[in-house]
Amino acid sequence: MKSIAALISTAALALTAGGFSTAAFAVDVEGAKGLAEQNNCMQCHGLRKEKDGPSFMKTAEKYKGKAGAVDELVKHMTSGKDVKLADGTTEKHKIAKTMPANDVAQLKNLAEYVLSIQPK
Ligand code: HEC
Repeated sequence: MKSIAALISTAALALTAGGFSTAAFAVDVEGAKGLAEQNNCMQCHGLRKEKDGPSFMKTAEKYKGKAGAVDELVKHMTSGKDVKLADGTTEKHKIAKTMPANDVAQLKNLAEYVLSIQPK
C-alpha cells in the first residue's frame, strides 16, 4: 500500500514539474532556428557561446522563473533599443522580421526557444 502511494505521488510530482517548467512549452525549434537564421541573430548570439550579444543560454538563465519573460523578449526583439557591441560601439538592436510581418506567434516562439536553451 505504501509503495503504491509513493509511486503515485512521484508520478504526480513529475507531471507537476513538467507542466510548470518553461521548457515544457511546445516550442517549434525548427521554426525558431529558421527565423533566427533569416534575421542573422546568430551573427551576434551563440546558443551557449558569448559573442557580441549574450548567449541564449545566458538570457534563459537571466529570465529563469520571471513572469512575462516571453513578452519582454518579444519587446526586445521588436523595439530596436540601443545595445552596446563588444568593440564599444552602440547600435540599434536588430528588429526581428517575420513573414507575414509582425507575426506575434512566431516572435513568441523565438522568445520561448531562447528561454529554453539549457547548459549542456
Ligand atoms: C549586431 C549584433 C546583434 C544582432 C544581429 C542581434 N543581436 Fe540580440 N543582442 C545584441 C547585443 C549586443 C545584446 C545585449 C544588449 C544589452 O545587454 O543591452 C543583445 C541582446 C539580446 C537579447 C537579450 C535581451 C535581454 O533582455 O537580456 C536577446 C533575447 C536577443 N538579443 C535576441 C536577438 C534576436 C532574436 C536576434 C535576431 C532577430 C538578435 N538578437 C540579433 C546584439 C545583436
